Amino acid sequence: MSTTTETTAVRYDKDADGIVTLTLDDPQASANTMNERYVAGMAAAIDQLESERDDVTGVILASAKKTFFAGGNLKLLQAAQPEDAGRFFAEIETVKSQLRRLEQIGKPVVAALNGTALGGGLEIALAAHHRIAVDDPKSKFGFPEVTLGLLPGGGGVTRGVRMLGLQDALMNWLLQGQQRGPVEAKEKGFVDEIVATQDDLLPAARAWILANKDDEEAATQPWDRPGYRMPGGTPSSPKLAAFLPAFPANLRKQLKGAAYPAPRAILSAAVEGAQVDIDTASRIESRYLTSLATGPVSSSMIQAFFFDLQAISSGSLRPKGIEPSKVSRVGVLGAGMMGAGIAYACATRGIDVVLKDVSVEGADKGKAYSAGLLDKKVSKGRMTAEARDEILARITPTADAADLKGCDAVIEAVFEDAGLKAKVFAEAEEVLGDDALLCSNTSTLPITALAENVSRPKDFIGLHFFSPVDKMKLVEIIRGKESSDETLARAIDIVQQIGKIPIVVHDSRGFYTSRVFGTLILEAAALVEEGVDPATIERAATMAGFPAPPLAMLDEVSLTLTQHIRAEAMKETGVDLTAMPGTAVIDRMVGEFGRKGRAAGSGFYDYPADGPKKFWPGVREHFAKAETDVPLRDIQDRYLFAMALETAKCFEEGVIDSAPAANIGSIFGIGFPPITGGTAQFMQAYDGGLAGFVARARELAAAYGPRFEPSPWLVAKAERGEAF
Ligand code: NAI
Repeated sequence: MSTTTETTAVRYDKDADGIVTLTLDDPQASANTMNERYVAGMAAAIDQLESERDDVTGVILASAKKTFFAGGNLKLLQAAQPEDAGRFFAEIETVKSQLRRLEQIGKPVVAALNGTALGGGLEIALAAHHRIAVDDPKSKFGFPEVTLGLLPGGGGVTRGVRMLGLQDALMNWLLQGQQRGPVEAKEKGFVDEIVATQDDLLPAARAWILANKDDEEAATQPWDRPGYRMPGGTPSSPKLAAFLPAFPANLRKQLKGAAYPAPRAILSAAVEGAQVDIDTASRIESRYLTSLATGPVSSSMIQAFFFDLQAISSGSLRPKGIEPSKVSRVGVLGAGMMGAGIAYACATRGIDVVLKDVSVEGADKGKAYSAGLLDKKVSKGRMTAEARDEILARITPTADAADLKGCDAVIEAVFEDAGLKAKVFAEAEEVLGDDALLCSNTSTLPITALAENVSRPKDFIGLHFFSPVDKMKLVEIIRGKESSDETLARAIDIVQQIGKIPIVVHDSRGFYTSRVFGTLILEAAALVEEGVDPATIERAATMAGFPAPPLAMLDEVSLTLTQHIRAEAMKETGVDLTAMPGTAVIDRMVGEFGRKGRAAGSGFYDYPADGPKKFWPGVREHFAKAETDVPLRDIQDRYLFAMALETAKCFEEGVIDSAPAANIGSIFGIGFPPITGGTAQFMQAYDGGLAGFVARARELAAAYGPRFEPSPWLVAKAERGEAF
């Protein structure tokens, strides 16, 4: 006999063997999330399970959607305010008490993971006694909460720690938000069994229940069994007692002292929870989640890392009505640092690459760069030798432009010289088809001017990659005056085809990212000029959440390049930029002390061959003043505001017109602190909104100079209560 009870988002079916299948299937959404329909459905299902308990053999948790369960409702999480804390805590406790009842039902419960289970989805699965996943590398398991400024507060921390032990749970799953495929998830302990296909899943779940139906232990979580001991020991056991005290310090070091609340809260919830019973631990976890979710950081991080990324990947920047396109053969002009990286990025995504340099040796060297990266993967067991060979075979090094024949697109990455770029495009155009896309990776030259040198300016566009290309996910697409909508759409398609994130900006000196980045490094140089100790200049940035300190980055970029860019800008605009705070320091560093930057061997740092870089003592000697006392908060605000105000200028001038693009570009391209949600989000989520931002900018202007004065355009926008 089979009984079926329709509930809201959880279907209840009992078969002749007494096996109950709870199918997660939200009738009003394409994916299951922890919304009110789920809560109501789960409540009814568990009531029914408890009342029919004696006739139940076991329980299968299944899903009728493409993914198993998508997790929490991020719109609600993002909207949570401090005053909602009480209600929020109560709601999480409701969800968790249901899962607690389920794991204590006294019958074997198995999670049949047909697809991805992240966050809340994985938490539901951990409440089962056994987890079976389908062998599909596209399925992902993990707790991405930390990347959104949150913590897995639906039992993820509490159960994770009890299943795997503190160390493994924290390192492998909780602190970094790793997302793992089924095989790796099994290796790391959150999946118990893998089946080959979807068709095998429910039979395997049934088989497990039937094999374990008389085994009380299989129907009990390890932590509910008498004599349970936490894997790896409790916090007071000798091994952990040696490891744990160093953990907060290591975490601080890893975060470079930055005020990221989520990893700290996860660590605290895990360690505190490991010392008490599971129900108390679970409440501790709920409290930490409540404080994160109702605070400002998670709201900004959810905006950037979920909604903005989703807006970009779903095509919000792509002109409408243009057929999706794909490239199969790409020409890369110039096999230097950037060209070699771009060739690698394309080849690993299945695209044939013609890699052209002035000599075959130069082109071979560019290909060897890919070989080096791939060899590393093979030696670490992350790639087979066959896969490496297949990827390498896609790259054809050459010195002959005729080999570019048949390419769907070319990406130019020769020296930063407009004349040379014109020459290589002319050579390429001779053999390319009439519809091949023409892209330049220039980092400073205006796209509109470069386009004047090709025969089809409408097909010309900027594709600004970041270094190192294999690691940096962002590509800034620069529309020239003549670039057509179709060209833009095709450029976005290429960027997405190679697994990178596109932002779209209009042509302007420095485009968007370099322009905004330039204000950060100049501000750091200005602080040197004011006599602030270089160690303070650097530490203030990392504590604010910048991934790298600004003087080190200035060395990396090279002081001479910033001089060159300044000179070009002065030539073009006629504006004297030499009085800008910071420029005098850079000019003295180069002119007086011959310190040009990292590549030239010395800058604000010394780079000894036999050890890590060290501050050049001369910075203190020549610039630092004992009486200078710029408060740390002001230093941090000067970085953040300089970059945000430049972003506002880019909006005002129409260089950028999308808040998601501004946010994602600033975080992924130039290291604006992820904790802020990006430059646009930083301004509008500032205490007091955009008006509060404007007020603080005026304070900075009064104290440190007119470069912090908000423009009338921005002031008017703030007065109208607008956002970006
Ligand atoms: P690079 O100096 O490492 O490489 C340039 C390559 O172009 C050299 O291998 C050179 O032999 C080759 N080349 C010169 N003339 C050529 C010709 N006629 N045909 C084919 N190849 C030729 O320079 P890098 O750093 O790779 O930069 C290339 C471009 O990318 C520049 O426009 C640069 O502004 C831009 N860019 C650089 C970034 C960086 O971080 N280095 C970041 C983003 C863009």
